[in-house]
Amino acid sequence: MKMKLVAGLTIAMTAGLFVGAMTASADDLVSIGFAQVGHESDWRTASTKSCQDVFSEENGYNLSFVDCDNDEAAQKEAVRSFIEQEVDYIIIDPIIATGWDTVLTECEDAGIPVIVIDRTIDDSDKYVSWVGSNFKTEGLAAGEWLKAYAEAKGIDEINALVISGSTGSSAQIGRSEGFQEIADREGWTILDEQTGDFTEAGGQEVMESYAKSYEGKYNVVVCQNDNEAFGAMTAMDNAGVSYGPNGDVILISFDACTAGLKDVQAEKITADFECNPLAAPFVEEVIKQLQNGEEPEKEVFMVEHWYGLEDAAVPFEIDGEPQEVTVVTDEIIEAQY
Ligand code: AHR
Repeated sequence: MKMKLVAGLTIAMTAGLFVGAMTASADDLVSIGFAQVGHESDWRTASTKSCQDVFSEENGYNLSFVDCDNDEAAQKEAVRSFIEQEVDYIIIDPIIATGWDTVLTECEDAGIPVIVIDRTIDDSDKYVSWVGSNFKTEGLAAGEWLKAYAEAKGIDEINALVISGSTGSSAQIGRSEGFQEIADREGWTILDEQTGDFTEAGGQEVMESYAKSYEGKYNVVVCQNDNEAFGAMTAMDNAGVSYGPNGDVILISFDACTAGLKDVQAEKITADFECNPLAAPFVEEVIKQLQNGEEPEKEVFMVEHWYGLEDAAVPFEIDGEPQEVTVVTDEIIEAQY
């Protein structure tokens, strides 16, 4: 991957992708480098759009955007290229949670504040703020909801297959830990957990193999994002397995993007646990605070909802906190990302 500056035109090239930003009078603009995970999912597309909309030239920013295509080395290289460019701020959505301290120290030495979004960095605190989701809470929500739903339906045995997200990402780690905690407490069987890498193709491939290996043995499939669920549904359709509120398999998903909620409404996904990708306005707030010499919050949590149809709207609790399932309507789908 290469980065170069051409007379006010910043070009980021990675894995065949490039994004350019014309800067009429670059000196007046706040320059930002954003090292994005990739383009693996609907969620990711919404996250990228959110950043590009907020950090536009019109709003006073010069955004250098790098799509790291899920390549950890490329992501570190992108951050180093932002240091070379002497940008004012660096935004990182870390592909994996560890291995960050060296490059964050380089940012610190260069005096460039780093803001982390979405996924967490677990082995360094050399960043100003993190804005994102509590992934363990999402996993706990899925587990606690499943317990309440199974009780309401008179289902007394849970045999689950999990299609996890990209291994080592904090999104995968948190969702797996949260769901596993409830499974262990309730004595459920998790028959298998394999990664679908947060992609539709990955979800389909894993589910095709599950459908053969565990034929007739499972009643729950947990996909750690909507795109994996789309792939898993194709595989179950091809294998003649019925799923959703009226099917043999309870299908759980995460993200709750527009297409995911449409599948909830179509009675395919039984419940969808939101991961909110619209962090950019909160990141802008952090940047404004820094510009004003204020100290931003170290952690900013996104507000998230849990979705289903009437049938799935069972009350449940997480650590004693009452939770609600929001019933999906046309208006909700319309307003989603
Ligand atoms: O880090 C957030 C996760 O990454 C989303 O759930 C998924 O869709 C994305 O690729």
